[in-house]
Order: sequence, then structure tokens, then C-alpha cells
Amino acid sequence: MSKNTLAGRDCLRLLDLSPEEFELVINTAAKQKADWAAGVQEVPYVGKSVAIIMEKPSLRTRSSFEIGSYRLGAHPLVMSDDHSAFSRGETVQDTTLVLERFVDAIVLRTYEQSKVTEVAKWAKVPVINALSDDFHPCQGLADALTIREHKGSLKGLTLAYVGDGNNMAHTYLELGALAGMKVQLGCPEIHMPDPAVVAECEKVAAQTGASIAIFNNAHDAVAGADVVLTDTWTSMGDEDEHDQRLAEFEGFQVDAALMSEAAEGAIFMHCLPAHRGEEVTDEVMDAPYSVIFDEAENRLHAQKALMYLLMEEV
Ligand code: CP
Ligand code: NVA
Repeated sequence: MSKNTLAGRDCLRLLDLSPEEFELVINTAAKQKADWAAGVQEVPYVGKSVAIIMEKPSLRTRSSFEIGSYRLGAHPLVMSDDHSAFSRGETVQDTTLVLERFVDAIVLRTYEQSKVTEVAKWAKVPVINALSDDFHPCQGLADALTIREHKGSLKGLTLAYVGDGNNMAHTYLELGALAGMKVQLGCPEIHMPDPAVVAECEKVAAQTGASIAIFNNAHDAVAGADVVLTDTWTSMGDEDEHDQRLAEFEGFQVDAALMSEAAEGAIFMHCLPAHRGEEVTDEVMDAPYSVIFDEAENRLHAQKALMYLLMEEV
């Protein structure tokens, strides 16, 4: 049995994991999911607690972390209103050093990645990024599990992401690089992913056999893809730019015609929430090849496995 090298660690982005650790989380999630469904419902962390701080809205992430903690036996301390955790201007240092006296892990959804990094710097307990402006690693883990369930494996598959070069684009670059996939992105020239993230992923890709290609149109990205993903064109924090963005992303909608350019048997995925009629049509969202609700469910299994591994006593 390989040692769990994740015990006591943080997950602030997928590249915090090695390719082997990434696979370990997915394998653990798949096993725990099957066990739970079969009635083997272990609750290993009775008496522990997890702080879940949401500085942006959430349906899936909040629910899945709260239920995932509960299923592990740990008390979920959810702070999602305007009057908790960081809302009074107390420093990140002081806030974190207080919180960690009560909890065994901290889950944080916020704006700047630097805030997640700073919490992790002060916290002795594991810190999990539940979405920042730059990364959404938990979504990446759930999506990897979903792809594996539907396509049998990850390595060698072609993953196409069409849309904004945002936190999800970064996460899919990292996922593909770690898993040895052929990653094809299609983003408008003015909404490209961060070149520094692309360069970091290129380095990992060189070790895993992955490849990365970035286009400024949707067609080249989707050509021959086994998995087609998109995300909102207006992320949380970008709301004021909504109308302008509709124009900037013209030609990047995932519709049935675009899906027909993917490989035979391709699946469609979306982290949700979707803006139906903008980045994706109803026809694609509701098609038999759309696996968006399996993907949403897998947030629970992936994050439960991640918490299980990070919170294990070293
Ligand atoms: N996909 C996702 O993170 O959804 P929420 O914003 O609802 O948590
Ligand atoms: N890019 C989106 C993802 C939502 C899960 C956002 O940051 O709002």
C-alpha cells in the first residue's frame, strides 16, 4: 500500500498534487462512492470539524462540502453570511490563528488566490480552495472522476474547453496536464488563460505525456474531442461586464453543431451554474451526452475523498 502523502497538506490548486496524488484522490473518491452506495458507510472523523467559509455565492460547493463533512463524521461549520470570518477587517493572520483552534480543516471560497495562500500560510490544519478567481481544484477533481466514470480512463483522451480563460480554464489545464490528456482550449484573444499557469502546466505535461494547444476559436478546440467543457462567460465578480462579455464571446457558444465536431461518443460537461442560451444551448445541456448532473453529484464524492486524505493524522 502506498503511503498517503497528502495527510496534513493543503489543496489550493490541482498542481499542489503530483500526478500520483491526483490519481489517489480520484481512486479514493471512486471507492468511497461505491462503498457508500453499497451501504458501507464509515464515519472516520467523528469529533472533528471543518470550517467552510464562502465569500462568494454557492450551491454545489457549499452543499457538497457540508454533506461531505457530515458523512465523514466531522461537524461542518459553515460561514457564508456577511457577518462572519473575514467580514470585520480582522487580519487574515489573526482570523486563521483563531479558527484553527476550533477546526481540523479550513475550506475557503474567495476572490484572490493570494488570500487562500495566506490562510494556508498561517493555518496548521489543511486548507482547501473552494474556488478563487484563479482556480477551482475541487471542481477539477469531481470532473476527473466523472470523465473516468463515463470514458473509462483519462490518459490519452482529448479534453476540449471552450470559453473564458478563467479559473475553470486554469483548472482544466492542470487536470489535463496531471492526467496525461490532450488539452485543447478555445478562448477569445482578449480572454486567454494566464500564460504563467499555461507554462506551469506545460512543465507537468512534459512528465505525464499530456499536450496543450490553445486556439482563438471554438472549432479547433473541439475537433476530435472526447470531452467538451464550457463555463459561464460572466464569472462571479464580472457581473458588471455581462453585456460587453456577451459580445466578446460571440462564436464561442457550445451548440449541437459544435458538439458534432467532437469525437464519436463525446460527452458534454459544465461545472454549473450555466447561463443557458449564452455559453451553451438548452439542446446541449439536456442532450443524452450531457453528464452535468453526474458531474455535480461527484463534487460530494471528490471533496469527501480530498478531506479524508488531507485530514488524516500524519
Ligand atoms: N460549480 C460550482 O462550484 O458551483 P457553485 O458555485 O454552486 O458552488
Ligand atoms: N468561473 C465561474 C465558476 C463557477 C463555479 C466563476 O468563478 O463564477
